[in-house]
Amino acid sequence: MLLEAKDIRKNFGSKLNRTEVLKGIDFGLEKGEFVSIMGPSGSGKTTMLNVLSSIDRVSSGSIMIGGEDFTKLKDKRLADFRKNELGFIFQEYNLLDTLTVKENILLPLSIRKMSKKEADRQFESTAGQLGIEDLKDKYPAQISGGQQQRTSAARAFIHQPKIIFADEPTGALDSKSASELLLKLKEMNEEMDTSILMVTHDATAASYSERVVFLKDGNIYSSLSRGEKSQEAFYKEVMDTQRVLGGVLDESK
Ligand SMILES: Nc1ncnc2c1ncn2[C@@H]1O[C@H](COP(=O)(O)OP(=O)(O)O)[C@@H](O)[C@H]1O
Ligand SMILES: [Mg+2]
Repeated sequence: MLLEAKDIRKNFGSKLNRTEVLKGIDFGLEKGEFVSIMGPSGSGKTTMLNVLSSIDRVSSGSIMIGGEDFTKLKDKRLADFRKNELGFIFQEYNLLDTLTVKENILLPLSIRKMSKKEADRQFESTAGQLGIEDLKDKYPAQISGGQQQRTSAARAFIHQPKIIFADEPTGALDSKSASELLLKLKEMNEEMDTSILMVTHDATAASYSERVVFLKDGNIYSSLSRGEKSQEAFYKEVMDTQRVLGGVLDESK
């Protein structure tokens, strides 16, 4: 198991006015696995992703990656761990407007001692896989939302992290750009053996992954594996579970 979380809990607020958001979650992610987290609005998806990715700290419980419980690390070491081992994709792309596509993608490499030649090689390979090499000198404002999100995906993969965490990566995209992005993520997941953990409320997006975990009120409600099923059959199963969970109307903007 690459990542193993045991009995993780997360509370917000003070003692007198406490909200329990994660109520004792056990979760494991295998090396190379692509997993989605679904569930109604407010069920704790983003909180779960944030604690599993070390952006936020758990209130209790352990999260092991590569045999080490990172919840015990001090802030500085945790930040280093995050920069070295993890990659992130957010709904709003989070690109820096004053940097070109290439400069944005190379950001995660700037903290390590790497020759320009090696960084260029990494860039060519990652940007090539995502089909955005030709955009390298453009600024974020000059390219489409889909291209911006592929740029942020390239930035997430460039340092070859163990796990990519993505919170609603297709949330701001039209359906064509969304499926292009998901196809690329799946290809890179398969080729590079990078695990992906993605929050989504979109059953189509979830059907690209191998397993879907459903949250309800801070607990894992159920989980589905694609197995040998077609993507379409898996999509239908995800839809059925979502319907039972009452998540269909939820989050439709
Ligand atoms: N920083 C915070 N402080 C207080 N409450 C929070 C905070 N972050 C999230 N919550 C609460 O936790 C619950 C789950 O939020 P979230 O994880 O964002 O859900 P989801 O991503 O499934 O919509 C919500 O009720 C939300 O209001
Ligand atoms: Mg959320």
